[in-house]
Amino acid sequence: MPLISFVAAHTSRYYAPKNFNVWYYFGVLALVTLVNQLVTGIFLAMHFKPSSADAFASVEYIMRDVEWGWLIRYMHSTGASLFFVVIYCHMLRGLMYGSYKRPRELVWLLGMAIYLVLMAEAFVGYVLPWGQMSFWGAKVIISLFGAIPVIGESLSHWIMGDYVPGDATLNRFFALHVVALPLVLLLLVTVHILALHEVGSNNPDGIEIHDKLGRDGKPLDGIPFHPYYSVEDFLSTVVFLLVAAFLIFFAPTVGGLFLEHDNFIEANPLVTPEHIKPVWYFTPYYAMLRVVPDKVLGIVTMLLAIVALFLLPWLDRGKVKSIRYRGRGYQVALGVFVVSFVLLGLIGIGAIADVLPRLLGPGVDVNQVENWIGRVLLGGYFGFFAFVWVYTRFGIERTRPVPERVT
Ligand code: HEM
Repeated sequence: MPLISFVAAHTSRYYAPKNFNVWYYFGVLALVTLVNQLVTGIFLAMHFKPSSADAFASVEYIMRDVEWGWLIRYMHSTGASLFFVVIYCHMLRGLMYGSYKRPRELVWLLGMAIYLVLMAEAFVGYVLPWGQMSFWGAKVIISLFGAIPVIGESLSHWIMGDYVPGDATLNRFFALHVVALPLVLLLLVTVHILALHEVGSNNPDGIEIHDKLGRDGKPLDGIPFHPYYSVEDFLSTVVFLLVAAFLIFFAPTVGGLFLEHDNFIEANPLVTPEHIKPVWYFTPYYAMLRVVPDKVLGIVTMLLAIVALFLLPWLDRGKVKSIRYRGRGYQVALGVFVVSFVLLGLIGIGAIADVLPRLLGPGVDVNQVENWIGRVLLGGYFGFFAFVWVYTRFGIERTRPVPERVT
């Protein structure tokens, strides 16, 4: 077994740029959150009952009677949200430093595949406790498939194994959540890192360190991952775990943001919750569905929002990677993109609808105003991709000189 040489090739003999900053912590933190989900998930599965008659009660049993069950459950449910916090920061780093560009297109594509699988994993996981939001969230999302012409309705029944989410749905979602999707996720993460190590890491200056080698054949601006970055990653992990522990012990549901209040009520097909909304990490896409007037068009918009991210390495043809040396246009466009995504998320959560009446006073149709704000933000989201393509395709971008070496 070439185990030691394999580990060495990816740690002490893997040369990483010496100028990593905090944004480079999030890859390892994503691994930490992944391991947390897997380990706590195994212990939850020991006590959880995947049937519509027992699921809710078995989660309550875990919370009250199983030794340390409350801690395991909150590590898993708060951990899921923290996973997305980490992943969104990890993706933003890629956008800032052009890590999706040649020669790392495959690393980006694999990352996007991970993002999709992660969303599927989180969605099916949220259905398992069989609370009100589990049931109604599943109903709304699965019925989106009904919008597909001809086969839509049969498809959504096939997915549910029933006419509404029921025992069969819960059972198959359990199988997907604990076996199928974690396996796919682990495989994708492995190839994601292998693909990255094949071409080497990018860095905040966007300089290819492998272009400048010393006499020993090693990059002049590189340092071995181990011990230099393993030590740093250990420190960032400790800080991250402190923050996570604070949340888990003192505010595990973060006021209903990480676990909605409605999900502490058992699923009831006869009572619709007042507001059906997904957990925060899905809300930007949920807002897209809501502000586009037509259902099918809304679904297409949501899908395009993800497809555009997949295509980014080919839409952005700029040669300069890092935002530090890119044209002002890219810097502004990325800012607009990020703000639009966050505000769409706030619309999806319902935060904007809460604030608007106080700002606008009585007599104004808040829904209408919110829809229009959402449509402008959609323009900001998709405008980023269109702008970047035109900006770099027709040579409009004025970049600053990139240093020869890491400074
Ligand atoms: C379970 C989820 C994920 C894990 C465990 C993971 C892990 C990692 C690790 C350990 C690295 C190297 C360290 C670093 O550069 O921070 C990395 C790099 C990278 N990841 Fe991920 N990743 C995940 C998801 C994603 C997603 C969703 C994307 C984007 C769509 C992505 C895009 C990238 C890119 C472009 C790099 C290279 C960055 C550079 O060299 O500047 N990753 N990932």
